[in-house]
Amino acid sequence: MRLGLGTGSTARHFVELVGERVRAGLDIVAVPTSEATRADAVRCGVPLTSLDETPELDLTVDGADEIAPDLSLIKGGGGALLCEKIVAAASARMIVIADESKWVSMLGRFPLPVEVVPFGLAATRRAIEAAANTVHAAGPVVLRRTKDGHPFVTDAGHWILDAALGRIADPKALAALLAAIPGVVEHGLFIGLAQTAILAGPDGVRVVERPVS
Ligand code: A5P
Repeated sequence: MRLGLGTGSTARHFVELVGERVRAGLDIVAVPTSEATRADAVRCGVPLTSLDETPELDLTVDGADEIAPDLSLIKGGGGALLCEKIVAAASARMIVIADESKWVSMLGRFPLPVEVVPFGLAATRRAIEAAANTVHAAGPVVLRRTKDGHPFVTDAGHWILDAALGRIADPKALAALLAAIPGVVEHGLFIGLAQTAILAGPDGVRVVERPVS
């Protein structure tokens, strides 16, 4: 199996479990979605490939920051949304794993990460605000910074604007508007990518399949 490995504290558990299975003889190759996951996979002995060598994957397993009932997601809290989306889109199937705290009736409580090029930041920020206004989802759009105050830099060398919109009633419309902004590289709305969510809560684990649209 050709596997996409997500990023974040939940996905890290999955990488470790895959490592255990590989050591027991499981035959897979995997594409990591970040440098952090690459390091975890190497540490766990998971054989790696790249999307250049293996452009089609069977399955990606990744975490999420928010999961709506139609299995649209907000991702990018860890800053890896660009590679996560490329890898998920190259996969025949995506399973999202999370705890129940990520399940929401409507996306938007978690600030939406938008990966941008540093050039023209103020103009891009205004365009993102205008896009959000168009779909009646206004809120502060803030440059993500590291603890020492420098802009957070993604694996691909971009910056991230976090848009605290509160409620995103029409994620599809917002996704299209954001994708049309020249300074936006990618955004953290994952729509139509996850087919299955596996959610852990105090009463056990439940599996949610994407409703047929
Ligand atoms: C990484 O950029 C994100 O998309 C993560 O998948 C998401 O933030 C979930 O991370 P946790 O599992 O650490 O909550």
